[in-house]
Amino acid sequence: MMAGRPQINLGLEGVYFDESRICKVDGQKGELYYMGYPIAELAARSTYEEVCYLLLYGKLPKRTELGAFTSQLRESRQIPEGLLSLIRSMAKKAHPMDTLRTAISALPAYDKEAYDNSTAANLRKSARLISQTASITAAIGRLRQNKVYVTPDNTLGHAENFLYMLNGSRPSPKEARIMDTMMMLHAEHSSNASTFTTIAAGSTLSDMYAAVTAGIAALKGPLHGGADEAALRMVRAIGDPGNAERYIDQAIAKKQRIMGFGHRIYKTYDPRAKIIRSYLLELHNTSSKEVRRLTGIALKVEELMVSKLGKQKGIWPNVDFFSGPVYVAAGIPADLFTPLFAASRVVGWCSHMMEYWRSNRLIRPLDYYTGRLNMRYVPISKR
Ligand code: ACO
Repeated sequence: MMAGRPQINLGLEGVYFDESRICKVDGQKGELYYMGYPIAELAARSTYEEVCYLLLYGKLPKRTELGAFTSQLRESRQIPEGLLSLIRSMAKKAHPMDTLRTAISALPAYDKEAYDNSTAANLRKSARLISQTASITAAIGRLRQNKVYVTPDNTLGHAENFLYMLNGSRPSPKEARIMDTMMMLHAEHSSNASTFTTIAAGSTLSDMYAAVTAGIAALKGPLHGGADEAALRMVRAIGDPGNAERYIDQAIAKKQRIMGFGHRIYKTYDPRAKIIRSYLLELHNTSSKEVRRLTGIALKVEELMVSKLGKQKGIWPNVDFFSGPVYVAAGIPADLFTPLFAASRVVGWCSHMMEYWRSNRLIRPLDYYTGRLNMRYVPISKR
């Protein structure tokens, strides 16, 4: 170790950068709270719209407040024509996360309040972002498969309308309820990589759209939100529960990551994964042969991973592991999983951004320079 070398927390592991009242994650006990409310209680009794209000305004809404907020969300669903053309031009050529990120970064062109950084304007922009991310994700899903864009149905709830815009038909109440809860479970998770990235971008006093665009960029990676797509691809590659043990043993021997397992904070079962697992069991008897097959493989992988790495290394299923088969049951293709994650998480990004802006300080950490000094410049002809 060099003299005077400062303590370096690679990946900012264990570093507190601010206080927050939004979300509490207890990684040892496997507990998650949004604004103090346990996630299981919200998943069982609330709705995505209500959770969005809770995260943005810091309290559960009264009936009239929820009504006004819901109307605001519904009025913001339609994708502007110019933006739809942009999505159309990209949808089949790029990964849906790239199209979503590009489309969100283009939203200021369609919002007169884009550069108004007052809290009131940011609350309105948050509502627009929640609706637009969902609509854009559904539109990408259709346009990339040569299907026509489905205009939103403002009589439907948020999750229900998302499925309608994606699949072109109204989901059953049970499908809508499961999607609504999936969105709730993905809505917020304290200062994870994408939320921190959002805050870091916004700490320069750029704007809400720029900050959320940065959040989407960070969510894409397979170590973060992209793990849901990667986990389903892995389950498909395993092909049969009987192949699971060999696959896992080989992966462990080669020190490869099993997607959908492990977490920087949770060293026990992720409480969201527990709830999603229960949906999978609920869906098991009623869904397609393909979903039953994927569920069977996923449950076998879970059993093996828990016995091989769970207690020994604290590697348990995370939110991304069981999501895949649940989404497949809802008619969602794998490459749309992470955009859907973004559409659910956007409210968390917005609420953290507004909280941080209340006492904003430019985020500017240090790196410890270990390179050379006083190098002599050699002209190109002499190198
Ligand atoms: N499969 C196999 N081994 C794992 C896994 C995994 N999924 N995750 C961690 N490990 C092992 C590492 O190889 C390492 O072993 P070693 O000590 O023998 O070298 C040990 O566990 C610790 O791993 P770290 O990388 O230090 O743990 P970290 O806290 O950085 O990892 C992470 C967190 C990135 C999520 C990791 O568990 C991972 O890569 N998981 C797979 C990707 C994934 O599912 N990401 C989604 C996370 S949830 C979310 O972001 C929404």
